[in-house]
Amino acid sequence: MNLPQKERSFVAIKPDGVQRSLIGEIIKRFERTGLKLIGLKMMMATEEKCWVHYNKDEKWYEEKGNTVVKNRTAAGLPVEKAAVEYGRDIIGALVKFMTCSPIVAMVWEGNQAVGIVKKLVGGTEPTTSDVGTLRGDLTLDSYELANLASRAVRNLIHCSDKPEEALREIEIWFNQNELINYRLVQEQILYDVNIDGLLE
Ligand code: PPS
Repeated sequence: MNLPQKERSFVAIKPDGVQRSLIGEIIKRFERTGLKLIGLKMMMATEEKCWVHYNKDEKWYEEKGNTVVKNRTAAGLPVEKAAVEYGRDIIGALVKFMTCSPIVAMVWEGNQAVGIVKKLVGGTEPTTSDVGTLRGDLTLDSYELANLASRAVRNLIHCSDKPEEALREIEIWFNQNELINYRLVQEQILYDVNIDGLLE
């Protein structure tokens, strides 16, 4: 049986998070929930890994591309290619961004880790993500600004969208021997039925 408290989420602090000296602040927000850090490394992401990681389909390219076309039209800019191509350019720009400077790759484990991390990170677009979330509090980019400049939205962090996606992403970024199975003493008060032994 898969124990709920063993759920994992893949998180990457993107180049903007590293360059803005927010590594500690971001890790602190995850750590204080009780989630357990089981893998951590600073690295240069390769383009190959990034394209495997962002494995979007034609439908995604089309949908996102349509928004780009709409924004370009509204801004009086020429529409020079099909929506699907603009959609593909979004991931192209994101890959360029992810490889421009180091990232910090992490795996967090705990009850409903994927949902907890998403809640802390906030919506993809910083201008519309909630106050109190990492993206809402610590940065300010928008899709419109990013798309008009043909660059990636600078939103500090990537996190897994679903538990099964997390497993796929963890395999891309970590070797098995880089993940550590260990127990945190706080897990007793977070999860255990047996809370005997706390009093001296
Ligand atoms: S979504 O919105 O849930 O469908 O998108 P998502 O799967 O999170 O998107 C994958 C990454 O693409 C980036 N993204 C964009 N960049 C610029 N412009 C637009 N319109 C746009 N839509 C999505 C987004 O930052 C996602 O990367 P991560 O690393 O997950 O933040």
